[in-house]
Amino acid sequence: MSDLDQLDDDALTAAIDAAYGPAARGPDEPTTSSAVEMSMITSLDGSVAVDGGSRALSNRVDLAVLLRLRHLAAVTLVGAGTVRAEDYVVPADPDVHFAVVTTRGELDWDSPLWRSGHATAVAPRSVSVPSHIEAIHAGDTAVDLPMAISAIAERFATGGAAPIHLEGGPMLNATLHELDLIDAVNLTISPTLVAGDGRRALHGGAEELRRFRRHHVLAAGDHLLTRWVRDRTC
Ligand SMILES: NC(=O)c1ccc[n+]([C@@H]2O[C@H](COP(=O)([O-])OP(=O)(O)OC[C@H]3O[C@@H](n4cnc5c(N)ncnc54)[C@H](OP(=O)(O)O)[C@@H]3O)[C@@H](O)[C@H]2O)c1
Repeated sequence: MSDLDQLDDDALTAAIDAAYGPAARGPDEPTTSSAVEMSMITSLDGSVAVDGGSRALSNRVDLAVLLRLRHLAAVTLVGAGTVRAEDYVVPADPDVHFAVVTTRGELDWDSPLWRSGHATAVAPRSVSVPSHIEAIHAGDTAVDLPMAISAIAERFATGGAAPIHLEGGPMLNATLHELDLIDAVNLTISPTLVAGDGRRALHGGAEELRRFRRHHVLAAGDHLLTRWVRDRTC
């Protein structure tokens, strides 16, 4: 197995595009703009966070994949808990846009991220979002996620088949899984054990067993980069 960590930055970007870009998609993979692709990193024992954040689990290649997946996607979908925990800032890449799901609307609307125009709030109609911020309202007191995904796909449609890149966190992932709205999983396995009470990649919601097919397993130093595609045949 070749090691992506040996590549320089340009060669790494090309390798990531070859593994995750449109040319890598199989004929049975969804090519609609509402396809949701979840990307997460976990420790060997399944934890998604150390000291409240995921950075310690990551490495250079995993970070490069994350940034490239944001770039290749129509939009990056993320839960408010992750935006708060991971201190999301204005993206350096002008093509990146975040759609942030919140039920309570307790976000720092005056922060540079929200003032940058690179973030859209996805909230129920009960939440009032300041007028300088774009909002997608779906549902009355809770976010109606199927309705929200349709609205997001329509708003951010690229004319191609760029997917919705889902960056978690675990609560948002679990709700989307319950609704069977996750079409692919990009999972990095970090060569670490953590223990503690850290969440798994999906937390809460109803227990549902859904099957995925292996698309690829790549090495990046001691990290493994894997991609799995939803198998709807069984
Ligand atoms: N390892 C990784 O790859 C990775 C990735 C992402 C996050 N994380 C870690 O995960 C932890 C955060 O976990 P989390 O489960 O709290 O994250 P989360 O799902 O991003 O945040 C939960 C919050 O997001 C909003 N939300 C989520 N699902 C919703 C739904 N279905 N409808 C409406 N609103 C919804 C709510 O926001 P309001 O509270 O505003 O109503 C909810 O309180 C952090 O430690 C973070 O570092 C790790």
